[in-house]
Amino acid sequence: MTGGSADYRDSGLVFPAGFTFGSATASYQVEGAAGEDGRVPSIWDTFSRTPGKVWNGDTGDVACDHYHRWQSDLDLMAELGLGAYRFSIAWPRIVGAGGTVNRRGLDFYSGLVDGLLERGIRPVATLYHWDLPQTLEDAGGWANRATVDAFERYAEVVGTALGDRVHTWTTLNEPWCSAYLGYGQGGHAPGRHEPAAALAAVHHLNLAHGRALQALRATSTGSPEYSVTLNFHVLRGVGDGADEAMRRVDALANRAFTSPMLRGRYDDDLLADTASVTDWSFVREGDLADIHQPIDVLGVNYYATTTVRLWDGVSPKQQNDGHKGAAGGTAWPGSDTVVEFVEQAGPYTEMGWNIAPEGLEELLVSLKEQFPEQPLMITENGAAFADEVAADGSIDDADRVDYLQRHLTAVHRALAQGVDLRGYFVWSLLDNFEWGYGYAKRFGIVRVDFDTLERTPKRSAHWFRELATSGVLPA
Ligand code: NOJ
Repeated sequence: MTGGSADYRDSGLVFPAGFTFGSATASYQVEGAAGEDGRVPSIWDTFSRTPGKVWNGDTGDVACDHYHRWQSDLDLMAELGLGAYRFSIAWPRIVGAGGTVNRRGLDFYSGLVDGLLERGIRPVATLYHWDLPQTLEDAGGWANRATVDAFERYAEVVGTALGDRVHTWTTLNEPWCSAYLGYGQGGHAPGRHEPAAALAAVHHLNLAHGRALQALRATSTGSPEYSVTLNFHVLRGVGDGADEAMRRVDALANRAFTSPMLRGRYDDDLLADTASVTDWSFVREGDLADIHQPIDVLGVNYYATTTVRLWDGVSPKQQNDGHKGAAGGTAWPGSDTVVEFVEQAGPYTEMGWNIAPEGLEELLVSLKEQFPEQPLMITENGAAFADEVAADGSIDDADRVDYLQRHLTAVHRALAQGVDLRGYFVWSLLDNFEWGYGYAKRFGIVRVDFDTLERTPKRSAHWFRELATSGVLPA
């Protein structure tokens, strides 16, 4: 599919033939079974058990119990007409203490992949959606280069076991969150507040991506596609120096990943902006060549925009903590004394994130301009709302339908401008463990009752099935 093929029929927006509609989840957020079949603890087990870190003391111990209910969950996906399912593999299920390979963990994902293929759903597997084995964190985590070697070995193991059947491999999900929220701002596991470690983590995650791609390519016997998923910051600037504030955050949040992965370099302005924090001596000869590997598709996660301005150094700094892209403080090593994050105009989702579909169109067009040869895939987009269950048990989540409708309309506009976009995955299939918010925020198109674990498709699920099966977005 190349761009420019978007068209209109019966006042609906027609997506190109072959455009993929899918849904996404992640291992720690849905699986549960935290202590079963040889799974070892991850940093999120530790973090969620640390008082005050996760809302209500929630943990992923049970989550959606997908580990035991995967077959009926796959039936549900088939009923919803999904063309693809994006899931993540839990590293702590695959490689145990001392580096031993856990056959039972591999068997679980092998069964899942087969179950998807039997139902005609393409498996899109992410290797790292934030559940780092705790033993690796104990040795320094992503701030330690040895974690890259461990990730490469893990990639070899899953590539060998599943690389004959997985349709798309994704190395990392949102390394921005892993590095800056995990090691800088501390709102995510492992909850460290070390700006220099956050930047070392950026580099080691980039290197892990490149080394894992090579390991997956060497071991996969099928013909999978290769990808990585990034959460791009779509920036707005206000006040004097708006451009400088946006440049700084673009360097740290976006180009710190795209430049090494897609251009084989770290940008000079990033190195200069962060010089007071680190000298980047953790970048060794050959690393950038290792990181700069071709990918078939670039995964794009988008939820909201981010507004920044230069801080005057005197007035109380705005942090706008409601938006994860505006976490403030040491999430922005080298920029935290310079940039402030400004509260954005509503409307908002239940996360406090502003609803801005035009930001998605702008992002897709901008990526096409920056990386003209790079096909794209929206690997996450969706919204948390306070869904209400009616007396008859149904869930009329009109605000989520509206959010999806607007964002898919923006996607269609980007297609019409020639963006080579291959598909769209809604976040999420199921209500699940929303990290620091525990079970308080519901992103699913399918409701999960966390007492009974019963699944109920919301109106958005029925709406999405129509779209996925017809390829036409109703006007
Ligand atoms: C980003 C993450 O990949 C996913 O795990 C999270 O639940 C959603 N966005 C919503 O915050």
